[in-house]
Amino acid sequence: MKDIQNRNDIDLLMRDFYGRLLNDPAISYVFTDVAKIDLEHHLPTIGDFWEQNLLHTGNYKNNVLQIHQQLHQKEKLSPELFEIWLDHFYIAIDANFGGKNSEKAKTRALSIATIMKIKMQ
Ligand code: HEM
Repeated sequence: MKDIQNRNDIDLLMRDFYGRLLNDPAISYVFTDVAKIDLEHHLPTIGDFWEQNLLHTGNYKNNVLQIHQQLHQKEKLSPELFEIWLDHFYIAIDANFGGKNSEKAKTRALSIATIMKIKMQ
């Protein structure tokens, strides 16, 4: 399986990942009912975030922790929600990619999710 190598790969991965999140009623309500995201606007932003994290290019400048803290004030982001989020993230990666950057994405997601989870108790 090929590794995550460019922005196109990241965009493909994010579309697959969000397909999984939005099809799971255990977590989809946070996106559809609480944050009411516009997917076509949101996908390029998270693409920027992962491009920066994995390929060191891209132009992500927002405070991702603060954005989730604000979300958590509207609707509790429980430890269980983080587990569900991570499960879908891992499954989306493993279904499409394999290699160094794919492992890096999973490790990075786990460490950020762990920090968020601790801050949102
Ligand atoms: C319980 C788990 C999570 C839920 C329910 C969740 C949900 C959301 C929602 C609803 C938004 C849109 C916020 C808005 O536009 O108002 C968002 C944005 C985002 N999330 Fe998460 N998230 C979770 C965990 C994570 C984790 C662990 C990461 C990173 C590893 C992450 C990365 C991002 C990024 C990059 C954005 C875009 C923020 C921006 O607009 O700059 N999320 N998330």
